[in-house]
Amino acid sequence: MQRGNQSYRFIFSFFIVLLFCISCSQMKTYPIDFEQLGEDERIVIRFSHVVGENTPKGLAARQFAEIVKKRSNGYVEVQVFPNGYLYGDGEELKALSNGDVQIIAPATSKISTIVPEWSILDLPYAFNDESELHHYLTNSIGQELIEKLERKGFHTLAIWENGFKQISNRDYPIYEPNDLNTLKVRIMPSRFIERQFKMFNADPKIMDFNDLYSYLENRSVDAQENTLSNITSKNIHSIQKNLTISNHGYLGYVILVDRDFWRELPEEVQHIIEEALAEVNEWQWNLARKINQEKLSFLEACDCIDIYYLTDEEKQVWEDAFQPVYDYYVNRFGSKYIDALPKVEGGIDE
Ligand code: LMR
Repeated sequence: MQRGNQSYRFIFSFFIVLLFCISCSQMKTYPIDFEQLGEDERIVIRFSHVVGENTPKGLAARQFAEIVKKRSNGYVEVQVFPNGYLYGDGEELKALSNGDVQIIAPATSKISTIVPEWSILDLPYAFNDESELHHYLTNSIGQELIEKLERKGFHTLAIWENGFKQISNRDYPIYEPNDLNTLKVRIMPSRFIERQFKMFNADPKIMDFNDLYSYLENRSVDAQENTLSNITSKNIHSIQKNLTISNHGYLGYVILVDRDFWRELPEEVQHIIEEALAEVNEWQWNLARKINQEKLSFLEACDCIDIYYLTDEEKQVWEDAFQPVYDYYVNRFGSKYIDALPKVEGGIDE
């Protein structure tokens, strides 16, 4: 009888040890890779933008998503939706406020629809290059602009680049502002850009970037302004005959989140996102320059569009002709934003 008890005890202990070993071995293989968790157990951030994947913004969004995934072991997943697939120009900001997406990257011009002072960046020939602009935005005057956005409920995470805009037209080359007379020109939603074209009796049409090709094709518009990376990414050079390298206006992006969404994120997640952006930002700026240069070489070689380069004297004529838009800006917002421009005496130095 005692012998029987002993063998039961032995078998019982054996099973306990076996169960312990099994659970230990399972603990070792438990997923530390959060990707295996369901969407409701991870943090999923939807990043919507309106351009193609092979553009400076599209490539940077993907790179940012990769870094966030790696740094968080998959706990934070940034899902990127390019080409206005989720939301077009007029819808992005609302979708962000509603929590339908968590990150957007609208052009600074589009930001002027909610904080019109941001139009300072749209003023033609306001900045000579991107570094002047970064300096302006990181200075106290630029921080005021960013603060205004914050008060509207939008938190700025970064500024990305796409360089300067050029003008293309279907039927004839644009050499001087008066060549814009009566042309229907596609523009981004910005009252200041609209004013710039109206000044020269053009007919500016605000429309979504992703509708541009078809509107040019069906001749609803004659002309458009954009960076070379955007122009080539939508094949616009194939249906426009004339391109003027004018570098007249800036195109950059504000990487935005909803302020409340941001505040509610765990601090370590905020750090991961900020560090990932810190890693991407400068790379993105250089990439934008490189892609736009490559696109210029491509267009020069393709024999598909006639390119005209404005001379420095001609640029000066354009710049002088745009002076009334500067005056209008001062009338609406006072002179402090313009006085701080690097080109103005006493403005921000690099
Ligand atoms: C445009 O609408 O032309 C641009 O803002 C597109 C973009 O985001 O670069």
